[in-house]
Amino acid sequence: MIMQEFGTTGEKVSRFCLGCMLMGTAMDDNTSQRVLNHFTEAGGNFLDTANCYAWWMGSGEFVGDESENVLGKWMQERKNRHEIFLATKVGGRLKNPHNIRGADGIPEWDRVPGEYEGLSAGVIRKGIEDSLRRLKTDYIDLYYTHVYDKNTPIEETLSVLNQLVKEGKVRHIGCSNLTVAQLKEAREISKRLGVRLYTAVQQEYSYLHPKQGVDTGIVEHVDAGQLEYIKANPDITLMAYSPLLKGIYNSEEKRKRYYNWSNFDSTENARKLEIVDKLSRELGVTGNQLVLAWLLRQEPKLIPILGFSNEEQYRENIAALTITLTDGQLAEMGR
Ligand SMILES: NC(=O)c1ccc[n+]([C@@H]2O[C@H](COP(=O)([O-])OP(=O)(O)OC[C@H]3O[C@@H](n4cnc5c(N)ncnc54)[C@H](OP(=O)(O)O)[C@@H]3O)[C@@H](O)[C@H]2O)c1
Repeated sequence: MIMQEFGTTGEKVSRFCLGCMLMGTAMDDNTSQRVLNHFTEAGGNFLDTANCYAWWMGSGEFVGDESENVLGKWMQERKNRHEIFLATKVGGRLKNPHNIRGADGIPEWDRVPGEYEGLSAGVIRKGIEDSLRRLKTDYIDLYYTHVYDKNTPIEETLSVLNQLVKEGKVRHIGCSNLTVAQLKEAREISKRLGVRLYTAVQQEYSYLHPKQGVDTGIVEHVDAGQLEYIKANPDITLMAYSPLLKGIYNSEEKRKRYYNWSNFDSTENARKLEIVDKLSRELGVTGNQLVLAWLLRQEPKLIPILGFSNEEQYRENIAALTITLTDGQLAEMGR
């Protein structure tokens, strides 16, 4: 696996980060462990999880501990914690995951944002201890705030995160789903307080972009302003989540089923999908693989977080590392 520097720290992380969101839910322990073994044996070291993955799966039997539990057990058995760059998140856990489903057993998504635990000092203090216990470790390499919390003063969040760094429980801090204005503000406040700055930002980023002006809810999709800010601040590592927009690039049928497809259903994206179709056929790769290879060539440099529901998808996606796109093909794809 190719490695790259994490921001300006001198530390090396793998070019793909492994998204462990569905381990312990969609994927059972054995399948998850096989994927983790393959990824690390191929030289990957960067794992992404959160303290809420993945409560929404199943029909009420999961609470959000599942992914961290799988990783903790695997690292303990493999005795490889020191070889892993481990990222988890706080703030997106639900106050009560048993209380969010309707009579039909389906999560009531409209109520979810109001049920997040948020980013108060108390939530973060408890969140880190619970994550460390599940992950069977005494430190997290990268600790993210998962979603914006308008109810907690940002100073409170940044100060407690800084204390966790001082205590050695967290090595680097990052944020997810912030607008560029929120990210700038947080970093300015950190400078003023003399505390740690966010040095990783995890946002949705793929080849297709949402239509201008659509409501993306709590999701922040990377835009030109964010790219400009990140380019000007090389200490920040951009992490791309949902790089395949739930696997839509191989299949029209999957696009139709994608719950957010209406946000992406534009003439511009139809044109881009034609390019994906043409180039992937020419290269003998899948559309999903092509998009991952394209993400690996973007500036500012970013790290795609691989998503998958089974081992076959993981194998297909990781193989994108071997695809070389020419400058001409990149120009044809555009941004
Ligand atoms: N910070 C945040 O708010 C946030 C949000 C989301 C994710 N994340 C992180 O980012 C990681 C990746 O996100 P994601 O799961 O949304 O990524 P994604 O790659 O956009 O979507 C993954 C889904 O796409 C489908 N898929 C993947 N590979 C495929 C393939 N080769 N062929 C056909 N379908 C394929 C599968 O869905 P089907 O089951 O339908 O086949 C799979 O579960 C997560 O594991 C998590 O760590 C972070």
